Amino acid sequence: MKNVVIVGFGFMGSMHAQAYAQIPNAKLVGIVDKDPTRAQENLAKIGLSAPIYKTLGTAFAKQAVDVVDVCVPTDLHKKYVMAAIKAKKHLFCEKPLATKLGDALKMAEAAEQAGLHAMVGQCVRFWPEYQAFYDFVKSGKAGRLLSLNLQRRSARPTGTENWFRDATRSLGAAVDLHIHDTDYVLHLLGAPAAVTSVGTKDEFGWSRIFTTYHYANTAVVAEGGWNQPPKWGFQMAFQAVFENGAVEYDLLAKPTLKATIGEGTPEPLPFAQPSTGASAANVGNLSALGGYFNELQYFIGCLERNEAPKLATLRQAAESLRVVLAEVKSAEKGKTVKLSQIPA
Ligand SMILES: NC(=O)c1ccc[n+]([C@@H]2O[C@H](COP(=O)([O-])OP(=O)(O)OC[C@H]3O[C@@H](n4cnc5c(N)ncnc54)[C@H](O)[C@@H]3O)[C@@H](O)[C@H]2O)c1
Repeated sequence: MKNVVIVGFGFMGSMHAQAYAQIPNAKLVGIVDKDPTRAQENLAKIGLSAPIYKTLGTAFAKQAVDVVDVCVPTDLHKKYVMAAIKAKKHLFCEKPLATKLGDALKMAEAAEQAGLHAMVGQCVRFWPEYQAFYDFVKSGKAGRLLSLNLQRRSARPTGTENWFRDATRSLGAAVDLHIHDTDYVLHLLGAPAAVTSVGTKDEFGWSRIFTTYHYANTAVVAEGGWNQPPKWGFQMAFQAVFENGAVEYDLLAKPTLKATIGEGTPEPLPFAQPSTGASAANVGNLSALGGYFNELQYFIGCLERNEAPKLATLRQAAESLRVVLAEVKSAEKGKTVKLSQIPA
């Protein structure tokens, strides 16, 4: 059994708590939030209970803790990640790992040196349909992947105290939202040689980005934007073309995932959906718990086996941050950016 403390109990803290409640070897033993009253309201909405503390130090003093799960706004990740490492706790941190590449690399190094098991919430690697697509690509069933086009679109999130709208804290849609697809592309195809991006910017930072990832044998483009109208909703989608087939995914379609192989007609592509249901919190742009459950179940499983996680490690998350920051640089400069120009 692994005792977990969640730091930051807004949208993601609530999602993680609901996932842990369905993982037999995990127990939520405490919550740390600077606003205990709001954290208590969020806890009540999802029908769970746990002691709420104002500081991580108090949580450590009162509880036996194995895991610190960091769900505060991105600019605060480093503070709590380093505190968890100092206290020798295993660590799960929401994405993006940091707002600065140097900080992300320091966190990765510190966790490695302390011999702790650590993971970042790059949840798309664990999203059921994206997992099925990954396996489909690797199976070679439709031949080689020729092209991949990914989209992630939503209305602008606010977060508590509007922190998403402060570009110094969230880095805007180009990083906060779009890093999901950047990370998935790296998971599937490794690092590109270069990126070319364009986008739109407003008083809240980069609101949308379109990136071409330069690979030798596959054409890859992705769009991430959160300046759809307020009631527009949320969509994630991709379209892939292979030598001998095509796969499409759209969160808003039924079925969500379908494949067309050779001369056949489009057919639903099976994927493993955990029976975790939807969030009871009724906030944020996604209610399905499946991807969050999968990543946390994998993490807790690694801890139970005393194995270092191989997926969504801090190093991989730092690499995704390196690439997404290169995309922002490309959009800023209006030029292609070679990844070899950005030290890892
Ligand atoms: N993986 C995903 O799909 C996904 C989705 C949304 C957000 N996120 C990430 O999760 C993180 C949190 O985002 P969110 O949407 O849950 O934000 P949120 O605003 O809903 O929640 C943040 C919580 O942190 C608390 N907090 C703020 N400052 C604090 C401090 N100094 N000490 C302790 N608690 C503090 C707030 O009171 C609030 O309860 C961000 O890094 C965000 O990018 C990931």
